[in-house]
Amino acid sequence: MKYFKGNATDGLTPITSAWMHNLFKDGELLNQLIAQYGSPVNLHNLSSFEKNIEKYKNVFESRGLRHQIYYARKANKSRGLVKHALESGIGVDTASYKELLQSLELGGDSQSLVLTSAIKTTNQIELALQNKITIILDNSDECNLINSIAKKLGIKADVGIRVSGFYVNKQKLYSRFGFDIDEVIPFTIKHVGKDKELANLNLTGLHFHLDGYSTEQRALALSSCISLANQLKHNGYPITFIDMGGGILMNYLAHEQEWIDFDYKLRESVQNEDASITFNGTGLGYEMVDGKLNGKLNTYPFFNSIYGVDFLNEILDYRDSNNDMNNTDRLKSENIEIRIEPGRSLLNQTGITAAKVAHRKKDSKGQWLVGLEMNMSQMMSSSADFLLDPYIVYHNFPEDSDEVQVYFTGAYCLERDVLLKRKITLPKLPERGDIVMFINTAGYMMHFFETEAHLFELSKNIMFKENSPNLNDLDFIEDSLITK
Ligand SMILES: Cc1ncc(COP(=O)(O)O)c(C=O)c1O
Repeated sequence: MKYFKGNATDGLTPITSAWMHNLFKDGELLNQLIAQYGSPVNLHNLSSFEKNIEKYKNVFESRGLRHQIYYARKANKSRGLVKHALESGIGVDTASYKELLQSLELGGDSQSLVLTSAIKTTNQIELALQNKITIILDNSDECNLINSIAKKLGIKADVGIRVSGFYVNKQKLYSRFGFDIDEVIPFTIKHVGKDKELANLNLTGLHFHLDGYSTEQRALALSSCISLANQLKHNGYPITFIDMGGGILMNYLAHEQEWIDFDYKLRESVQNEDASITFNGTGLGYEMVDGKLNGKLNTYPFFNSIYGVDFLNEILDYRDSNNDMNNTDRLKSENIEIRIEPGRSLLNQTGITAAKVAHRKKDSKGQWLVGLEMNMSQMMSSSADFLLDPYIVYHNFPEDSDEVQVYFTGAYCLERDVLLKRKITLPKLPERGDIVMFINTAGYMMHFFETEAHLFELSKNIMFKENSPNLNDLDFIEDSLITK
């Protein structure tokens, strides 16, 4: 057995971890896992997850900030990660009834869970209130519903207000979520508190989650929330926490130059209409309009030089021009706990997806298509393509093999079920049963959009810890078997 990265040259080389290479070397184990759990199978390394948790904790501890980290479990459905987050002393951000219920069953409680869902159903709210879970408020209908349920239960609901519409360079940042920043004070004073309509809401915090990946926008949003918290305090609403949501950037790629080169070559290929880079010449956001190149790369920014803890540090170090102190010092002087809800970035280097080759064929254009026992929904996000070179484990690898360019195709009856839109160069045409490995898929890629179309089984998720040097199938546990 031998394994290789696709695109030995001119590729998009993913950052990998030693544990991944240990698995690629062990083709027998991969065969066994696929035989046992089916294809594709998602493998999760809990040690990587734990390391990421520690790094974020250190950021806050080194600054002496009161803090809470909630793992945003929407990024990955697995129970094992929730249990591990709780065991590592962080919390979990839940966004549906089932996410909340399962997190409670796995050991979550009023201190470790938060409910931030975009749509809040009555059963979700009841469950949260019965367990004293803080709820993040999005709109006034929701406030009324939560207030009436809390009243019925004879309790006060701990809530935070989600804030949006922050001013950045004198422009308002649009979001469909939350209360406009200019409305928070008048709304709260008018409706929330003793002898008011929303007397059963106990406002304890502010929350925001921004689209996009600007540290400056997040830093200004945080700064605005600190000022808002101060004003609320002077109006009789002591704010104890500010939760700045998720969206901390992650870096997937080893070389910036490859990222720059890919963008250049893609644009050139769209301009020349030569389909040399992507399936059927798809521009991944670029297109020709009236003879001119239009649009922009419509994918996640897979290469970033500022990501993870550096991204977070930039926000916490930021001092906006209206203040003498940076965000960290202002949080401390107001005695406010800072909270974050990272999903994707906490899952960095935590997961890979292994899929079995089912067939090879040449299409009418003479292109090699390699069919995998997998479908497009099992590696899909809002990004137009997953721009990381896969690895391939060959069972037989004759030394005189010829290089070949392929597209990996999936099992749906859709022409567009092409798993990676990029053409991948391999050192040899794979055979049936060879294994293709997709790297760093735990955050959103594995199963965020997974469907059961064609009645295909949902992919299995298996968990393990890195610490055993010679892994065997008994070191892995299937996620649905994980309990408290
Ligand atoms: C409210 C909220 N918190 C946290 C997250 C997690 O974001 P990420 O996975 O990008 O860190 C999201 C993602 O959509 C969100 O909407």
